[in-house]
Amino acid sequence: MARISASVYTSHVPAIGAAIDLGKTGEPYWQPLFKGYERSRQWLKENTPDVIFLVYNDHATAFSLDMIPTFAIGTAAEFTPADEGWGPRPVPKVIGHPELAAHIAQSVIQQDFDLTIVNRMDVDHGLTVPLSLMCGQPQAWPCPVIPFAVNVVQYPVPSGRRCFMLGQAIRKAIESYDQPLNVQIWGTGGMSHQLQGPRAGLINRAFDNAFFDQLIADPEALSNKPHIDYVREAGSEGIELVMWLIARGAMADVADAANGVPGRHVPKLVHRFYHVPASNTAVGHLILENT
Ligand code: DHB
Ligand code: FE
Repeated sequence: MARISASVYTSHVPAIGAAIDLGKTGEPYWQPLFKGYERSRQWLKENTPDVIFLVYNDHATAFSLDMIPTFAIGTAAEFTPADEGWGPRPVPKVIGHPELAAHIAQSVIQQDFDLTIVNRMDVDHGLTVPLSLMCGQPQAWPCPVIPFAVNVVQYPVPSGRRCFMLGQAIRKAIESYDQPLNVQIWGTGGMSHQLQGPRAGLINRAFDNAFFDQLIADPEALSNKPHIDYVREAGSEGIELVMWLIARGAMADVADAANGVPGRHVPKLVHRFYHVPASNTAVGHLILENT
C-alpha cells in the first residue's frame, strides 16, 4: 500500500522564483533566505519520494472569477508552468500521477468532500516556487507531483477545520492505494502577509511563530482558528496558511488521535526556519517526518 512518509510546509513568494531564475540567490538580500533551505534540499535528495501531493493555491492564473473551485485535484499526465505576465518560469514541466490522482479523487469524494477534477491546468508560482526552493534548478523535478489547488483568493474560502479534515481523508485515500508508493504531502503558502489596502506590508512574527508551535504540537486545536483571525492577525493573504492544515491533517499522529490511540507516531521535526522579509511576505518552512 502507499504511505505518507513526511510533510513539508513552505511559503511560495513569486519574487523567490525570480531570484532563482535570474541567478540572484547569493545577493545579500536573498542569501539568508536560501541558506535556510540548504538543509531541506539535502534532506529531499536523501528522502526523495515516489510522488509529491502538493497543496497550493492558484492566483487567478488557471482559474479566474469565471470558475472558482474550492478544492481542485490535478489528474493530468503533465502540467505546464504558467505565464503570469513575464513569460513562463524557466523550470521543468510538472509530471503528474494520473492513476494515484484518480484514486484519491474517487476515495476523497466518497468520503464526502467535493473535489473538482482538473484534466488540464497550468501551474503558477504557488506550485513552482516551493518545488524550486526544495529542489534547486534540476533538469527535471525529482518525482511526479499531484497538484491540489485550494481557493484562498476569493471569498468564501474553506475553514481551517475543513482543511484539517480533508487532510485526514487524503491520508485514508493514499493508504488505500494498492501500490507501495512513498508519498510526501506538501502544504504551501503563507506566512503572514498582506498585499493590498491600508495594511499592505503587514508582518506578524508572534502570530507566525505561535502558528508553527501549534501546527507541530496541537494541530487539532489550531484547526479551530476561525478564518477571520487569520485575516486580522496574519493579513489578508495570511489565509493561505489554512493549506498547511491539509498537509498536517494527513500525518500519522492525527490518524492515531482519531482512532483513540494518541502518542504512537509523534512526528519528527527535521527542520524549522523563519525569515523576514521576502518581498512582502514572512517566509516559514517546516519539515515533519512520520515516525
Ligand atoms: C507575494 C506573496 C504571495 O503569496 C503572492 O502570491 C504574491 C506576492 C509577495 O510577497 O510579493
Ligand atoms: Fe500567494
